Amino acid sequence: MAVPLLDLKAQHAPLERALKDAFERVLRSGQYILGPEIENFERSLAEYVGARHAISVSSGTDAILLALMVLGIGPGDEVICPSFTFFATAGCVARTGATPVFADSCPVCFNIDPDDIVARITPRTKAIIPVHLFGQPAAMDRILETAKRHNLRVIEDAAQSLGAKFRGQSAGTMGAFGIFSFFPSKNLGCLGDGGLLVTNDDSLAERARLLRTHGAKPKYYHNYIGANFRMDALQAALLAVKLPLLASYAKSRAANASFYADRLSKIPGVLLGQPDNQCCAVSKTSGDGSSSNFQISLPLEIPGRHHVWNQYTLRVTGGRRDALRDWLTSREIGSEIYYPVPMHQQECFAACVPPTLRLPVAERLAGESLSIPVFPELTGDQKEEVTSAISKFICNQ
Ligand SMILES: Cc1ncc(COP(=O)(O)O)c(C=O)c1O
Repeated sequence: MAVPLLDLKAQHAPLERALKDAFERVLRSGQYILGPEIENFERSLAEYVGARHAISVSSGTDAILLALMVLGIGPGDEVICPSFTFFATAGCVARTGATPVFADSCPVCFNIDPDDIVARITPRTKAIIPVHLFGQPAAMDRILETAKRHNLRVIEDAAQSLGAKFRGQSAGTMGAFGIFSFFPSKNLGCLGDGGLLVTNDDSLAERARLLRTHGAKPKYYHNYIGANFRMDALQAALLAVKLPLLASYAKSRAANASFYADRLSKIPGVLLGQPDNQCCAVSKTSGDGSSSNFQISLPLEIPGRHHVWNQYTLRVTGGRRDALRDWLTSREIGSEIYYPVPMHQQECFAACVPPTLRLPVAERLAGESLSIPVFPELTGDQKEEVTSAISKFICNQ
């Protein structure tokens, strides 16, 4: 039985009528830029995460860029961000003319290592961008404390973590800005590109709205240089159809993650988390979680952090990750390597990374991580197929 990594057609089939109605409403309204569809979606999303302001934009990437522009980050500034993540975070820092400074990751939760952030602060550091990777928040208590102590701004990249919580507080609402992506593979995906910023600060929100439309106020009078960062009214209307279902999507993702944890952890050679599970530990005994032997470790929801399972990411040690991927592919089971090359080893950042920089956890994660299907519409049979394929692979080792 084929199991895709993601099945958007299955997600949208039961919504077809409602999505078409939304499309027709926008079509007939004649208002395709800003207007009531955008305002309605922004209001609903702000309420969902518990933020004062939500500003919809053209993509998650543009949300990061806009947040950096609003905070005035540019040439001469440094911004600390994780190396083991998607490109957009560091890419936006570089596009402002600032320098991305890469920090290592925690081997247990995969998020930016709060100790390594402290180690990388210089007089030029202006901000930290933690990424809440795969659906689980980073150690926000320690990150916010560091930011406060060193007078740094925090932009939370919650592109993968809409609805996730750190000690009861929604991902994205703890820093100066939080950003979300509605790329179709995200927990709330639109039918195209879309993104959003949230903030609790009135003046930051005002500036973000201004820069979203070329920095013009009034129209054609520009005191600031902005750009066109607007979300289409059509995407806002479609997202408004799906937003009420987000909690049920998250519930299904969590049930799928529990199923995998329950089934796979019973197989000898499979570990739930890392040997000591010291997440973001102040004094680490877990090292980089490395093992030269074959072993599969399952992702863990850390106490106090509500995971929304955008990805279910295994670590496969002993150099067997690619073999497992090939094995799954040969059985028509989708998987993906998020992410094969950490940012500090990307060609485009060579000029801003010291040649001696080693980030051992990020490097290991890039060689060991493999994400398997966890999307909400996954059927019971499909989950059985995935677990049985993994268990057969383990038997053959
Ligand atoms: C962690 C992270 N940040 C930023 C982005 C950028 O979002 P978008 O694809 O909407 O531009 C993504 C999306 O893939 C992401 O996963």
